[in-house]
Amino acid sequence: MAGRCLGGLGPQPAPGCTKPANHPPYTCPAPRPSRKETAPGFGFWMGFTGDDFVGWWILRPPHGPDQPKIEGEAELGYRLLRRHWRQGYATEGARELIRYGFEELGLNRIFAQTMAVNTPSRATMASAGMTFARTFSSAEEYEVVLPGTEHGEVEYAITRRQWQETRG
Ligand SMILES: CC(C)(COP(=O)(O)OP(=O)(O)OC[C@H]1O[C@@H](n2cnc3c(N)ncnc32)[C@H](O)[C@@H]1OP(=O)(O)O)[C@@H](O)C(=O)NCCC(=O)NCCS
Repeated sequence: MAGRCLGGLGPQPAPGCTKPANHPPYTCPAPRPSRKETAPGFGFWMGFTGDDFVGWWILRPPHGPDQPKIEGEAELGYRLLRRHWRQGYATEGARELIRYGFEELGLNRIFAQTMAVNTPSRATMASAGMTFARTFSSAEEYEVVLPGTEHGEVEYAITRRQWQETRG
């Protein structure tokens, strides 16, 4: 990750990266003891290029009505500042968290979900090595209904075995 860094938010180690010497201190979200106690090693990571904040990635246990609570599975998500789009950053961070999830957390399956119409997010999932798993109607209750909701949600996923095969 030359010149780039995925830094951990919160107590978990930053996977595959060290904090640059001149880096501003990481900020921590409000403590969520129950999540920390039940899911060590999960959380948010911030991405930087040099000192410039790029965006965040998340790896967390299944939650909510759309995600069956299966041991050994986790959800991957991401959001980047617009000025950093289309430079490969989302894929790079996603790949690193997938590696971290399988190698260091011992997960069996990592999935990501987005609206079916979210082409950039779907392309990022595919670029990170995930494949289409299902289309579904979200059971979440959203305050704002976004255009395209009528097309449903999609889930992409990669298993540990698939990931190991891509690494030869
Ligand atoms: C989705 C998002 C994270 C992608 O970030 P990014 O850094 O631009 O993604 P990358 O540069 O790594 O590109 C990944 C793939 O997506 C494709 N892609 C990115 N933006 C695209 C767009 N607007 N239209 C079509 N494809 C797009 C890239 O071409 C690449 O595919 P390829 O490897 O086949 O060439 C970013 O657009 C974003 O933060 N969007 C708003 C938040 C969001 O939608 N988050 C996901 C919610 S589930």
